[in-house]
Amino acid sequence: MVEYAIIADKLTKKFGDFVADNAISLKVKKGEIFGILGPNGAGKTTLISMLTTLLKPTSGSAKLMGKDVIKDQLAVRKMIGVITEKVTMYPPLTAEENLMFFGRLYGIEKAELKKRITAGLEEFQLTKFRNRQVGTFSLGMKRRLDIVRVLLNDPQVFFLDEPTVGLDPITVAFIKKRIKEINKRGKTIILTTHIMQDADELSDRVALIDHGNLMACDVQSKLKRKLGKHATLEDVFIHYAGEQLRDETQKMEMAPRRGM
Ligand SMILES: Nc1ncnc2c1ncn2[C@@H]1O[C@H](COP(=O)(O)OP(=O)(O)OP(=O)(O)O)[C@@H](O)[C@H]1O
Ligand SMILES: [Mg+2]
Repeated sequence: MVEYAIIADKLTKKFGDFVADNAISLKVKKGEIFGILGPNGAGKTTLISMLTTLLKPTSGSAKLMGKDVIKDQLAVRKMIGVITEKVTMYPPLTAEENLMFFGRLYGIEKAELKKRITAGLEEFQLTKFRNRQVGTFSLGMKRRLDIVRVLLNDPQVFFLDEPTVGLDPITVAFIKKRIKEINKRGKTIILTTHIMQDADELSDRVALIDHGNLMACDVQSKLKRKLGKHATLEDVFIHYAGEQLRDETQKMEMAPRRGM
């Protein structure tokens, strides 16, 4: 029997008349690394936001480890970790102070929390910056610390929305290695990335989304084989998404901005 970490059933999100995600149904197996690919504005972050309870679907439903993302929000939140493009750390606080703060929010008991912080900082090679203000960190250090923060809560399902964007190749390689290790410890991982090589290397399966529609969902080798012997994941991406540039703006930006 396959057990699923995520079952999405016709998940739809509309912003006004605009359909950001259109009846997306997919299943993510427990213990899998699942890549979500698609052009800018395709609806990837919106989909992740619905799966992580941050956005309420307009229609459709989803379950995470058997819990409904709408009806069982709290239970879902306890089981997930989410890394978004924005790093959520307080610049004036030190690395340890930030981790203590978030760890206490997660409700982790103090002695246990200290242990987890020490192990996390060590794993992400940040031990010597433990008492340094996060405001002085490079983007790579902040991103690593953000992952340490999320892992404190020992999430069963770990969402990473473009975890390597803006990072140098050494940090990218380091983070990819850690993602694989975290997965080996039994965690289900859902990630988005625009870097096809990363998606290909990391993912067990990928979903391709375009204009809010799920275009394909399978193991990469099968998707490539359909296009020919030497097809790459980039070829698959272009095959489903076309070559048209995407210059979509946030629909809410059409409204007059306050304070301007
Ligand atoms: N809060 C919002 N209000 C209005 N429109 C939104 C909102 N959030 C997203 N959108 C629109 O929905 C569409 C999908 O956005 P989303 O952020 O999910 O795309 P994405 O696939 O994550 O893109 P990217 O690769 O650029 O991160 C876009 O056209 C975006 O402008
Ligand atoms: Mg996005």
